[in-house]
Amino acid sequence: MPHPAAPFPMTRPRRLRQSDWMRRLVRETSLGVDDLIWPLFVVDGQNERQDIPSMPGVQRVSVDLVAEMANEAAGLGIPAIALFPYTDPSVKTPGAEEAWNPENLVNRATREVKRQVPDIGVMLDVALDPYNSDGHDGIVRDGVILNDETLMALEKQALAQAEAGCDILGPSDMMDGRVAIIRQALEQHDFPDVAILSYAAKYASAFYGPFRDAVGATGALKGDKKTYQMDPANTDEALREIAIDLSEGADMVMVKPGMPYLDICTRVKREFGVPTYAYQVSGEYAMIKAAAHNGWIDGQKAMIESLGAFKRAGCDGILTYFAKDVAQLIAEEGPLG
Ligand code: PBG
Repeated sequence: MPHPAAPFPMTRPRRLRQSDWMRRLVRETSLGVDDLIWPLFVVDGQNERQDIPSMPGVQRVSVDLVAEMANEAAGLGIPAIALFPYTDPSVKTPGAEEAWNPENLVNRATREVKRQVPDIGVMLDVALDPYNSDGHDGIVRDGVILNDETLMALEKQALAQAEAGCDILGPSDMMDGRVAIIRQALEQHDFPDVAILSYAAKYASAFYGPFRDAVGATGALKGDKKTYQMDPANTDEALREIAIDLSEGADMVMVKPGMPYLDICTRVKREFGVPTYAYQVSGEYAMIKAAAHNGWIDGQKAMIESLGAFKRAGCDGILTYFAKDVAQLIAEEGPLG
């Protein structure tokens, strides 16, 4: 008996969801290993591992172990790692001079990784906060973050990092004019191939807390970062920031944090069509881990879903503390949808 025309639906979106093969056939985006950048925390010592309580599953590790982890990452096909230092408080100063010490932790780690694992990209933050006794990304005088003095410091930091063999510089400080000064310095000092992935739309966010524990900046930070990081209420301003960084010579841009700012990712990708990355930051990672630990969500499924969301939003890649876990899963199962 044929069904009467109504009230049965003529259009049934469920047809395309009826089986795994059909869902795969119509899938619009997927997450692959090429989408991942893996952030790692470096600490002094030899064969040293330190847990970070607010980031379960993430450790600070010494340079020798960073090289091992880079090797593992390369084996899994992860294109790049990003290195962040835990700087001993005794080394931090108001001028953040350690930032351009050729022997600082990230520069040593970069040289070691490039020596042992030449085929993985190394990205370093250009920002003073891990080295600054004030915990700020810029130089502070009388409670004011000084823009242009900070630029001079960032230039020195960037050159020391390029000298160490860093492939991608990530200015994450949000000072005005930083990309221009770094790009110019790179060109002048014969580092034309060092790329800049600028933290172009970086918001003054509550989601960075665990990272500040990881780099030992939590106790140091005086006040907040609202005079340089962006107001979470703003969207148009993010586009202006991106436009400025691109005009100053950024090759790739980043939106940060990630999941709470997917609207920004989408707009940036649509308007500029440049390589666009999101940073799934420490607080996003910690939330998923904490809820999973309590049995409130399925941690693995939430990990995959949260990362897939970035692809759907238009991102070309994601900095994520899940990079190795997800790469292992992709190695077993193929690209994840
Ligand atoms: C430093 C920097 C921060 C992060 C990356 N680079 C913290 C901050 O700006 O306070 C945060 C990353 C994360 O939370 O995972 N400028």
